[in-house]
Amino acid sequence: MYNSKISGLGYYVPNNIVTNDDLSKIMDTSDDWIKERTGIHQRRWIEKNSGDTTSIMGVKAAEMAIKNAGITKDDIDFIVFATLSPDYFFPGGGVMIQDMMNMGTIGALDVRNQCSGFIYALSTADQFIKTGMYKNILVIGSETHSHGLDKTTRGRGVSVIFGDGAGAVVLSREENNSKGILSTHLHSEGKHAKELSLISPGLGTRWVTDIVEDNDPNDESYYPYMNGQFVFKNAVVRFYEVINEALNKNNLTKKNIKLLVPHQANLRISQFIQRKFQLSDNQVYNNIMKYGNTTAASIPIALAEAHQDGHIKKNDIILLAAFGSGFTWGSALIRW
Ligand code: UT7
Repeated sequence: MYNSKISGLGYYVPNNIVTNDDLSKIMDTSDDWIKERTGIHQRRWIEKNSGDTTSIMGVKAAEMAIKNAGITKDDIDFIVFATLSPDYFFPGGGVMIQDMMNMGTIGALDVRNQCSGFIYALSTADQFIKTGMYKNILVIGSETHSHGLDKTTRGRGVSVIFGDGAGAVVLSREENNSKGILSTHLHSEGKHAKELSLISPGLGTRWVTDIVEDNDPNDESYYPYMNGQFVFKNAVVRFYEVINEALNKNNLTKKNIKLLVPHQANLRISQFIQRKFQLSDNQVYNNIMKYGNTTAASIPIALAEAHQDGHIKKNDIILLAAFGSGFTWGSALIRW
């Protein structure tokens, strides 16, 4: 059995910055409310006709990760792509990326686990590397939320939170078993699926013919639904559990954590976890202030930025943790 290590990181966010004040011009909200409840100052939203899509952003992040790893795209054996906002309902975005990057006929797998999508994707890739099946896997999280949000006062409880962007890592074979990804932990609780959800517009739970027949201008079912307070309460419990699970599994304590990179759901959630574990500010990386919640892209963007800014060094213990729609949650413990 091998281990796997993150050998390269990359990220991409669209140019278009949308501030809280910009939002207050199109809905009844305020900079104060958004900052106080979420910590978000601004987010990136793809501008119409800019050319960016979920897959294209994924490619940009992937190209940076491959360059950062010091390899070429021809060294990549497999793609695992996490998103809740693929360009097409089907096929998934992994094959789009495979085609745009001209990567022969390597396999491409899509992961649909929303905010914990990147942890699930990383864990999946880790298994392929551990068994020796692949040597280098591209693991990508990319999201376009801006096109699907209700940007009126009716949707303000959801739309102010989410942002667009992509992050990627190259996961590579590591011969030293005490380095790289030491463990991953995955959980779900489907009974809460509807608490943070979006029906398949025109498919699955609602038929195209019904939507056309109803032709209802007040139909909100095209927009994501979130029971914010319920999600928040579950998130803080599950984050705590799954971080502890990773530490216990590896006989480590909170003191060993060099950097916790939590999914950027809400700054108040990250701060709650930081207090609960009594971690210092230097031990927790947050960038939700700049990008909002980018679901499956949030951890790889934050990890790539933290690495770029010199917060991660060789042998550091890095803990990734996420919680979100499903509910699904997970963690990954890495010795860098
Ligand atoms: O990514 C993973 C999953 N997502 C999360 O982890 C999100 C978890 N939940 C949250 O982050 C928070 O619940 C929210 C930020 C979504 C909402 O914050 P909250 O403190 O739970 O607010 P609330 O939903 O209880 O709403 C409080 C008030 C309401 O008004 P009334 O009924 O008290 O008059 C809302 O209508 O704030 C109102 N409100 C807003 N006001 C201004 C809701 N959204 C906004 C807004 N601007 N954008």
